[in-house]
Amino acid sequence: MWETGFSAKPAASDRGNAHVIVCGNEKGGSGKSTTAMHIAVALLKQDHRVATVDLDGRQLSLTRYVDNRRRWSARGSLDLAVPQHFHVPPARRDSVSDAESEEFAHLSRIIAEIQTAHDFVVIDTPGADSFLNRLAHRIADTLITPINDSFIDFDVLARVDPLSHEIVEVSQYAAAVREARRERRRTDGTVLDWVVLRNRMSSITSRNEQKIDRCLRDLSMQLGFRIADGISERVIFREFFPIGLTALDDFEEHVLGSKPTLSHLAARQEIRQLLSALRLPTDERGHRRADARRRYAETVSRPLAMPDIFAG
Ligand SMILES: Nc1ncnc2c1ncn2[C@@H]1O[C@H](COP(=O)(O)OP(=O)(O)O)[C@@H](O)[C@H]1O
Ligand SMILES: [Mg+2]
Repeated sequence: MWETGFSAKPAASDRGNAHVIVCGNEKGGSGKSTTAMHIAVALLKQDHRVATVDLDGRQLSLTRYVDNRRRWSARGSLDLAVPQHFHVPPARRDSVSDAESEEFAHLSRIIAEIQTAHDFVVIDTPGADSFLNRLAHRIADTLITPINDSFIDFDVLARVDPLSHEIVEVSQYAAAVREARRERRRTDGTVLDWVVLRNRMSSITSRNEQKIDRCLRDLSMQLGFRIADGISERVIFREFFPIGLTALDDFEEHVLGSKPTLSHLAARQEIRQLLSALRLPTDERGHRRADARRRYAETVSRPLAMPDIFAG
């Protein structure tokens, strides 16, 4: 169950200037870890200083993805750029509050280390509600929610009438994001940019997909997210994982371990489109846009005094 209440409030002033990108939703297998790795590598390739954080202590997919990349790079002397990676394991304590305190302290230490030395931090989250997951959503500047391209996965955002496809009720996750966004704006005037990414799209446009499209557009207005162009279902995304590669790496045979295909090129194009849709503050224009967003938020609601990061 997604809860929206927080006792701990990290403030932007404590995070420094690193832009925080969170990949989140409450469903496993929708592409959070894959997306996180692709964004991290894309930013590394643009010479940004990038850190990655894995909060999914059970799956550890991003941690393994980064490890695989390091290993594949060393094995072929490929010199692949690798993000500085952190992993926050779930704390095992007798009481929930002790465990949460420990997790909070751990994540705070990591963020403190990242904030001065990196331009971007990409946080991968588990597909379930947890204290750490809620915390991550509270410190996000950009939230990317990949959803599989079907009505079955749509319920991560809202419950939809099976016949009319009318939106019956927004999901707990969507409500939690709305609350996290509200809190964040009150705290330091930052407007969370929420981007929903349709993933694993089939190449055939069916009537069902057109309906999903319409529903998603309705919901985007209700909930205030942007919709990024989708990523297609491609076998190569599964093949990338064990060798730690992404659609943005060189497609030479000695790097890829096999001959590149048209699918590789098409995937690269889609990921590039995603990156540009994210409008991250990667250049002067991006910084100006982020500043404008912040100024806008200030006019909408004056931020309250900054709470202490460890305020109870
Ligand atoms: N666009 C895609 N096409 C094909 N397979 C994909 C795609 N995106 C993700 N996958 C695969 O789906 C599985 C789940 O993806 P993952 O990124 O681990 O999701 P999550 O982190 O949300 O659980 C992985 O095996 C991954 O390789
Ligand atoms: Mg994952």
